[in-house]
Amino acid sequence: MFNKLTAMPADPILGLLTKYREDSRTQKVDLGVGVYKDESGHTPILSCVKKAEKYRLDTESTKVYIGPTGSADFNRLMSELAFGIENPVIIANRVRTVSTPGGTGALRVAADFIKRCNPNSVLWVSDPTWANHTGLFEAAGITVKTYPYYDYDTKSLKFDEMKAALSQVSSDDVVLLHACCHNPSGMDLNQQQWDDIIELTVEQGFTPLIDMAYQGFGDGVDEDAYGVRKMAAKVSNMILCSSCSKNFGLYRERIGACSIIGKNAAASDIAFSVLLYVVRCIYSMPPAHGAAIVETILGSAELKQEWLDELTVMRNRINGNRAMLVNKLKEIGVERNFDFITHQKGMFSFLGITSAQVAQLQSEYSVYMVDSSRISIAGIGTGNVDYLAKSIAKVL
Ligand code: LMR
Repeated sequence: MFNKLTAMPADPILGLLTKYREDSRTQKVDLGVGVYKDESGHTPILSCVKKAEKYRLDTESTKVYIGPTGSADFNRLMSELAFGIENPVIIANRVRTVSTPGGTGALRVAADFIKRCNPNSVLWVSDPTWANHTGLFEAAGITVKTYPYYDYDTKSLKFDEMKAALSQVSSDDVVLLHACCHNPSGMDLNQQQWDDIIELTVEQGFTPLIDMAYQGFGDGVDEDAYGVRKMAAKVSNMILCSSCSKNFGLYRERIGACSIIGKNAAASDIAFSVLLYVVRCIYSMPPAHGAAIVETILGSAELKQEWLDELTVMRNRINGNRAMLVNKLKEIGVERNFDFITHQKGMFSFLGITSAQVAQLQSEYSVYMVDSSRISIAGIGTGNVDYLAKSIAKVL
């Protein structure tokens, strides 16, 4: 049976990991996969995570099945973190959450859930969006279409075009929005733009699906949830997929959450029964370890503060890297204007070079980035910025 298969190309993002690791040159720069790295290029385990893990190790008493919802404490704490404890949807008991295997697991649960709500729903994603969004939703049998978002020429949002496109979207459809730190462009909606999109969502009646993979990496945990919180308070139905990979540094633990909001508590209960059925059909129940770490941190005032402080360090380093690269390019005499990088948010920006230049950076200088010229800003450091800027200058 396997003889009929043809090989799939390597994943455009994850494939870079292997290539980078196999590159035996000593001077190399990894700006590929979106993971946080410290100044030495290492992805550390947060100190609050180490403490929470030790606590769980000492106190955990069973490994019995956790059930399709996952941990109730984790789900509650994640909902409060995303929506804010005083959000009318929390007060009205309209949010239902399941723990999922990572943010990707949350998206796949959302995809199958949408398919059960309406098999003909179209999912609208930003152009561009995270490389895995389209494949993931199509794998669930959903038609994916795009709305204009990033202007590669002006390095800014195509906001008017985005609004014009969304004002044609039917109430049967779902629109995927990035909560913050847009992946891959780093170009976020400002608060006024969120307000406009929320108004349009209410007018059109489509369902918003917000993907929040980077809460805390833009401006702060609360600031980054502005759109999520306001949207939730205004619409009758909404889906939120969140990830603990980046902000808790729990990449390989695979922990995220999928929340749905119904028009009232009774409607949410019905929708939740469908969500649990979907979970049971895909992976039965989520892994528990990552959720246990996160709920230990969020449930302790002391550990939560430590987490917020560690997150601030990560966010500030990334923002510092943005300025450092742009200043270095100026310092070595590159004439092209890269200032836009300092105005963008989160882990990524497009460098704005051609795919031939991306390939040249890889083959001649061992500088790795996604073909679209998306760079993972955390991979920059004082030790490689000079080499990186000079390599970019050479291919320009
Ligand atoms: C990325 O975009 O680099 C990350 O979200 C990792 C991934 O799974 O693609």
